Amino acid sequence: MQVFHHISSLREALAAERRAGKRIGFVPTMGNLHNAHLELVKIAQKNCDVVVTSIFVNPLQFGLNEDWDKYPRTLAADSVKLESVNCDYLFCPDEKEIYPNGMAEQTRVIVPTMTDVLCGASRPGHFEGVTTVVTKLFNIVQPDEAVFGIKDFQQLAVIRRMVEDLCIPIKITAGEIFREADGLAMSSRNGFITADERPRVAVLNRTLNGIKQQIEQGRRDFTVLIDEARAQVEAAGFRVDYINICNSRTLEMAAHDDREITILGAMYTQGARLIDNVSVVLGR
Ligand code: PAF
Repeated sequence: MQVFHHISSLREALAAERRAGKRIGFVPTMGNLHNAHLELVKIAQKNCDVVVTSIFVNPLQFGLNEDWDKYPRTLAADSVKLESVNCDYLFCPDEKEIYPNGMAEQTRVIVPTMTDVLCGASRPGHFEGVTTVVTKLFNIVQPDEAVFGIKDFQQLAVIRRMVEDLCIPIKITAGEIFREADGLAMSSRNGFITADERPRVAVLNRTLNGIKQQIEQGRRDFTVLIDEARAQVEAAGFRVDYINICNSRTLEMAAHDDREITILGAMYTQGARLIDNVSVVLGR
């Protein structure tokens, strides 16, 4: 695996691949890689000839009181994991390389409306930071295809929307959620879950699946379902940020006749904010 810290040298290497007719796949990450990230690399490998993974803990997408400074930086271990799945390129720039004019002066990319709800409501500015850095990374790597995890469902929807609205010629592919045996979605933040909380945190996934089953059985009293679900998560000892039943494409509150529905939830543990989602596709 070739490792690059600078945009210019990465671009040179990738220009040679492009000249050789290679299809370039891209997996943007913030590091602290786990199996779900490696699965995204494998998807990119299946669809492309060479794969670039980036690791950059993007300060622009963290709020002032969020966990940017304690976000795990595990570059050496991450490199070993990427080598083990034969990733071709690792791009790990520092902050100066990505924001040479400083973050305050950085030109921003904003996807309106759908970034104001769910995680966007409790993390103001978060998605602006994501779409800005992803646009920069797209322009640096210029991939044919980029792979994102479905666990960050809203992020995926926002990026799809950005790519559509800005006519960015990159295919966006989604990678499934990888779960621990009890249903907890794999996440770089799971390391912040305490031993005492760990047996209880799968309540979020169980609760979202419970809503899914109720919808499949015909219930459409979404606000009641949400209230019941919040009570279940709170009974397990966690503070709920949100639980919502949304139209899978727009992320607006689902209408009773919507056929593609995603149930999204976020809750706080002592050291982390965990998110999860499950989707339902209803027959006609
Ligand atoms: O999902 C992530 O890890 C980040 O939000 C991303 C897409 C790499 C942008 O910093």
